[in-house]
Amino acid sequence: MDFLDLARERYSVRRYSDQKVEKEKIEKLIEAARIAPTAVNLQPQRILVVDSEEGIKKLEKSTPFMFGVNTAFVIFYDKGESWKQTYNRTDYGPIDAGVVATHILLEATQLDL
Ligand SMILES: Cc1cc2nc3c(=O)[nH]c(=O)nc-3n(C[C@H](O)[C@H](O)[C@H](O)COP(=O)(O)O)c2cc1C
Repeated sequence: MDFLDLARERYSVRRYSDQKVEKEKIEKLIEAARIAPTAVNLQPQRILVVDSEEGIKKLEKSTPFMFGVNTAFVIFYDKGESWKQTYNRTDYGPIDAGVVATHILLEATQLDL
């Protein structure tokens, strides 16, 4: 799909089917996260794929924004590995994580998830 069409196609889903996400699709989403640009290419991003009932229940305790998902990607970063701006020590980890999340969202759109 043309990039602009893909970007226009993406939207925030707030109700999910109970269909399981195929392993090959999960692997593609992780690959999209892996190749995302990060500050100084330090790649501090970490992705936790939660697809067990027990794991989803734990996540539901931490956020009301689950909307009935059965597979969730928890995106975080290693504070010890993210780049800190030299003159004011700003941590670029949250920005990296946002870019990684966007890569995942666009690939999810491409995969029709
Ligand atoms: C940084 C960020 C935080 C967001 N947090 C939430 C959230 O907590 N709950 C939620 O339902 N949507 C959240 N959203 C989704 C936005 O509400 C949504 O992207 C926006 O309304 C535009 O709609 P669209 O994604 O369908 O184009 C968030 C989006 C961004 C970029």
